[in-house]
Amino acid sequence: MKDARLRGTVAMGLFGKKLKQEHKIMLQAERAKGALLPEYHRATPECPHPERWSMYDSMTAEAEVLEFLRTLVTTIKPELVVETGAFLGVSTLWIAEGLKMNGRGRIVSCELDPVVFTKAKEKIAASELAPLIDLRQESSLEMKVEGTIDLFFSDSDPPVREQEIRHYLPQINPNGLILMHDASSHMKTVREAALKMEVEGLISVVLLPTPRGLVVAQKRQGRV
Ligand SMILES: C[S@@+](CC[C@H](N)C(=O)[O-])C[C@H]1O[C@@H](n2cnc3c(N)ncnc32)[C@H](O)[C@@H]1O
Repeated sequence: MKDARLRGTVAMGLFGKKLKQEHKIMLQAERAKGALLPEYHRATPECPHPERWSMYDSMTAEAEVLEFLRTLVTTIKPELVVETGAFLGVSTLWIAEGLKMNGRGRIVSCELDPVVFTKAKEKIAASELAPLIDLRQESSLEMKVEGTIDLFFSDSDPPVREQEIRHYLPQINPNGLILMHDASSHMKTVREAALKMEVEGLISVVLLPTPRGLVVAQKRQGRV
């Protein structure tokens, strides 16, 4: 389903009205009420059994990746996390939970779609983690963030991910981490962008073999 989103397609909703893919998945997620499903992205050579993973919906990161995000936060204890593409704020909240466990740090996130943003904002406002989260309705490429970014999670629209890394790289802590979601060999765009930036010497890359693929990278310049 996410593949369709990647091609920028729309789905037919009630009464034949065209629904944007993000809105369609948002409605499905509301109906599912937080139930976990087996991951249904297609098998890839690096991840031949995606059904062993779980997901809430095809936009929100895999459940295991959400846990990984929280664990990375408690492991590296970032002061500042930046996320691009909040969707319904689920990954934002998992990251914030790690920050709360650490007793320090904050997350700045952005969501371009105004309808999705409103839903995410409501969800975050209802959480005790809200004070740790600065959610903005703007494009990742226009967002201005002050300070050094210790953890950067790129999860917006795949074609803009490369630009995002290049845009934020000067602000990223060389001892911090860069994550790029949707980097499977099937989805290609993000994987190829990460490997291209590695060849250019900008980042060093590890490709985690999850159903949708996750790049864990580090800035090369300034690394100690
Ligand atoms: C894959 S979803 C994010 C999932 C979320 N990180 C999670 O795991 O819970 C991608 C989201 O990015 C948003 N988006 C697309 N392009 C964007 C941009 N340039 N800046 C900010 N958000 C963007 C889409 O509207 C969509 O809601």
